[in-house]
Amino acid sequence: MSIVFDSEKKIFKLDTATSSYIFQIYEQDYLVHLYYGSKIPDNNVAGLKYRGGFPSFSPNNINVQDWMFSADVTPLEYSGEGTGDFRTAAFAVRNADGNNSTDVRYKSHKIYKGKPAIDGLPSLYVENDDEATTLEVLTEDSVTGVQAVLYYTVFENLGAMTRSVKVINASDKTVEIERVMSTCVDYHTHDYEMLTLYGRWAKERSLERRPLAHGRQMISSKRGSSSHHHNPFAAIVDKGATEDYGCAYGYNLVYSGNHLFEAEVNQFAGTRVIMGINPDSFGWKLEPGAEFNSPEAVMVYSDKGIGEMSRIFHRLYNKHLIRGKWRDIKRPLLINNWEATGMEFTGDQLVTFAERAKELGIDMLVMDDGWFGDRNSDRSGLGDWQVNEEKLGGTLAEFVNKIKALGIKFGIWYEPEMISRDSNLYRAHPDWCIHVPNREKSIARHQYVLDYSREDVRDYIFGEMKKVLSTCKIDYVKWDFNRNLTEVGSAALPADRQKEVFHRFVLGTYDVMNRLTKEFPDLLIENCSGGGGRFDPGMLYFSPQIWTSDNTDPIERLTIQFGTSMCYPASTMGAHVSACRRTGYDTKGNVALWGTFGYELDPNKFTDADKRIVKRQVKEYHKYYDVIHFGDLYRLISPFDNPKRAAWEFVSEDKNEALLTVVTITRPEDSAIFIKLKGLDPDKYYMDDETDEVYSGALLMNAGLCFPNEDISDGASFVRYFKVIEN
Ligand code: DGJ
Repeated sequence: MSIVFDSEKKIFKLDTATSSYIFQIYEQDYLVHLYYGSKIPDNNVAGLKYRGGFPSFSPNNINVQDWMFSADVTPLEYSGEGTGDFRTAAFAVRNADGNNSTDVRYKSHKIYKGKPAIDGLPSLYVENDDEATTLEVLTEDSVTGVQAVLYYTVFENLGAMTRSVKVINASDKTVEIERVMSTCVDYHTHDYEMLTLYGRWAKERSLERRPLAHGRQMISSKRGSSSHHHNPFAAIVDKGATEDYGCAYGYNLVYSGNHLFEAEVNQFAGTRVIMGINPDSFGWKLEPGAEFNSPEAVMVYSDKGIGEMSRIFHRLYNKHLIRGKWRDIKRPLLINNWEATGMEFTGDQLVTFAERAKELGIDMLVMDDGWFGDRNSDRSGLGDWQVNEEKLGGTLAEFVNKIKALGIKFGIWYEPEMISRDSNLYRAHPDWCIHVPNREKSIARHQYVLDYSREDVRDYIFGEMKKVLSTCKIDYVKWDFNRNLTEVGSAALPADRQKEVFHRFVLGTYDVMNRLTKEFPDLLIENCSGGGGRFDPGMLYFSPQIWTSDNTDPIERLTIQFGTSMCYPASTMGAHVSACRRTGYDTKGNVALWGTFGYELDPNKFTDADKRIVKRQVKEYHKYYDVIHFGDLYRLISPFDNPKRAAWEFVSEDKNEALLTVVTITRPEDSAIFIKLKGLDPDKYYMDDETDEVYSGALLMNAGLCFPNEDISDGASFVRYFKVIEN
């Protein structure tokens, strides 16, 4: 069993193949955190409960014999507000008598095979109970009767675990949850750096690294979505950790709304990490008997560097987060009309796109924004999900039949959570958008956000989507989201529940996505939010792929894709070739191959030479699909470290195939470059598909491959495929 409770020492030990996580029920039923790191064979770790240092000025619990114990300094498993721990609390409840003292202690626990789902929220899943083991620890505040059930699930073979919390109001008075973090880990030192992914529109998920310092360092969102600006991912890594060396603790929140990750270094230089719903603008009234579920935090540990941390995330998400038939089968190679036409297109024009696509071997046409209502610019139409038959030159079914007659699939764009100020829906239901009384509503892209905390609003939008999606066989939906939430309030909730709107909005979105995936199980959903503004595991649970960025410049895409790969696998990254100015189609294609491949341009404008390249790229997409989507990623040369070059490699699970991509950003001055591969079997022999040369894995990894720089110009790139040959 990968989770064991030692009833004598009262120690819980949660093991994966490579890591151990240990905590103890201590005096007065405090849960004391002992260890998280590389796997250790036993549980002789009780000494670790002391952070060190005499806790002068720290409060003590009069009933605890151990005078060194103080909630202020002892590593704790799930810390409450205002009861002796001055570090940032994981849990705070405003009690019926008005104070927010919170102190939950151990009551009971159970350990079982498998993993429960979280009501109303996306979470990692197992297909059979042998894939994971779960520990539930029931804790209770004996003064207020509020309970917190701490859930830990261990994916033993994958070096990963998840945590979440269910709050139960077991008292007879209403309380308000002020903060409920999904995870809380107290490290013994602060000899770490923190990695985060910051960004903005068209520059998502740039990697940033900072040393931990005394005090609180955090990233967060209060935009109502996970955002372009700070992804709900962070890692705590050894100082100087590289792709291949050092310990890395990765954290990722399965949530698409306001989030917080914080690392606080305290007076004795220990570090508390917390992650969960951002407590800013959050509150949740809990009636007697009611329950509240936190989202799930995914925790990945690697002692083989940052690269291995990423690979664990990738394996985990490819198997336990992405769902449905699109997890395992090849996704369609698509062409999308947005960059070519914007909203100014006709049905006939898109049919020509589909004809060209068919000639080139592309699998699916996606009709982007502009097919509905009065939607000829971004000033109007959102919410009016009725087909614009004039634009399409007939009914949707007639139009789709023309596409299908060519033998290709069809996809369509939606922005289901939005409403244009200039729309019939807004004129009919001005109170259906998120707003607060008497305050001017901020407008963004001329639109407001629908109040998805309301069931009637969700019912209406889902009903309208269902009507359209049922008229003919639609294979794919691009689900967009193009603004953040402001003046956050709901006309349908009382004053004392307005703090719930942000979270209820996210739950509402998940509800509609859930209905959609249930009603149309074969539908492939691609998420999007002005590019990659909602690229998070919550969305991935419903949509196996996400449009990574509106920025399709292949050089600028390098940092975006490198950053995104910190925790998200290639199979999730929407990556397309566009008609942008920089580099030729070769490099555009080589960069886009690192993802769910597609085109975002007018195929009628291709020259014969372009068409030859596209046909080759389509073949490469099919040939390399498995190694890219299901293989292990090695980031060989990162554009964050090297302004001149980027290189990455995918290696199949059995180490029999490898795909190397090298992109030159600026031509090097050296006469040749050497690229060392990684992750191969040193004893196997690999044939270079292009030259038929055979090399040992050992040579490719230790000496590397030499490329003379004669042909290397700014923006040039190459892909090399290696396959094991039998000796
Ligand atoms: C933003 C997306 O990122 C684009 O790809 C496109 O779908 C537009 N929205 C359409 O309005």
